[in-house]
Amino acid sequence: LHVEGKVYKLPVVRGTEGEKAIDIAKLRDESGFITLDTGYKNTGATKSAITFLDGENGILRYRGYPIEQLAEHSTFLEVAFLLIYGYLPKKAELDKFIHEVRTHTMVNEDMRKIFDGFPVNAHPMGVLSALVTSLSAFYPKAVGLDIDKEKEYLDLTIIRIIAKLPTIAAWSYKNSQGHPLNYPKNSLDYCSNFLHMMFSLPVEPYEVNPVVARALDKLLILHADHEQNCSASTVRLVGSSHAGLYSSIAAGIDALWGPLHGGANQEVIEMLQEIHDAGGNVKQFVEKAKDKNSGFRLMGFGHRVYKNFDPRAKIIKKAADDVLKALNINDPLLDIAKELEHAALNDQYFIDRKLYPNVDFYSGIIYKAIGIPINMFTVMFALGRLPGWIAQWLEMRRTKEPIGRPRQIYIGETARDYVPV
Ligand code: MLT
Repeated sequence: LHVEGKVYKLPVVRGTEGEKAIDIAKLRDESGFITLDTGYKNTGATKSAITFLDGENGILRYRGYPIEQLAEHSTFLEVAFLLIYGYLPKKAELDKFIHEVRTHTMVNEDMRKIFDGFPVNAHPMGVLSALVTSLSAFYPKAVGLDIDKEKEYLDLTIIRIIAKLPTIAAWSYKNSQGHPLNYPKNSLDYCSNFLHMMFSLPVEPYEVNPVVARALDKLLILHADHEQNCSASTVRLVGSSHAGLYSSIAAGIDALWGPLHGGANQEVIEMLQEIHDAGGNVKQFVEKAKDKNSGFRLMGFGHRVYKNFDPRAKIIKKAADDVLKALNINDPLLDIAKELEHAALNDQYFIDRKLYPNVDFYSGIIYKAIGIPINMFTVMFALGRLPGWIAQWLEMRRTKEPIGRPRQIYIGETARDYVPV
């Protein structure tokens, strides 16, 4: 087999006892292929018409529309519609979609009983995942749904999850603060409503800053989908058994919670803080990053698929400037981040390795400025990624993918006789 100029020798029969299996991990690392086995179907590799990603040239498009144009001119709910239904809605369609989302933001009061059982130190992602799973119990018809015959119920299920996730996310934050819950204020737009539920206190009316609400909307757009990744393929795999949308999304949330997937912007903030606390000598840390034995790693640089600028990073950098200016905040971490980016992008070591800032490099600075604590960063990622997960789930169902069942290559013991002790 020839892959990009390299020759791989594959055994004729795989997986049989005694056969020396090919080293899939090595092959994957060297060739960039996840697998050559179509048996993996919608788990390891899949065809998709949702998000186009060209990591070599730093291009990202949703349904053909460049991310830059969507971030500049669209709104998160319009982008959600685009990802889920595949086209940009006409004004009347979008108004209807927004109206429906507004009317479903409330969460069943019985779910409060589940919520009240969480200790104050519960991680917000644990609360989010558990409450999204429990939506399946409240709306059991969503499980095993015939998506062609029950289209209306499917649409309602999609509306419900989009409408309720910000409410549940804000609950998870309020729990961690020990604060009373705020009910949704449906006269507000999607992001302003979320900010209201997060930060309004009964004693202190909270004014939603429009620049902050817009920046948040943009952040959600930028996180809305990223083709196949750990959480997206988890959603597809769980959904391939015809599990309901809520449980599949909950599984995606759990996949995202893992620090290797959703934890990077937290690591960036911690790194920036470490540099700041050590006196802010950026050049010294750039040198440390090059020394493998220093124990210091540059977080928020490089990405599995981008060998060029992550197009989302540029937009987020500008949004960070806008938010800090609007809130009159002078965060030394933003200055350190910019210095770090400049130093690294002019250093041959990073140039050779094609290490550019990724989506996580500046987003934490915005969240920090808004007052969103670090343990909520992954929850914010989940809010943004929701339409992508829904679109991936729907596409997998519409294209009638079979139930996922990754192929196994057995590498264990050959047959042994059981000898009782
Ligand atoms: C991202 O948005 O960068 C991700 O979901 C991670 C990935 O693409 O693997």
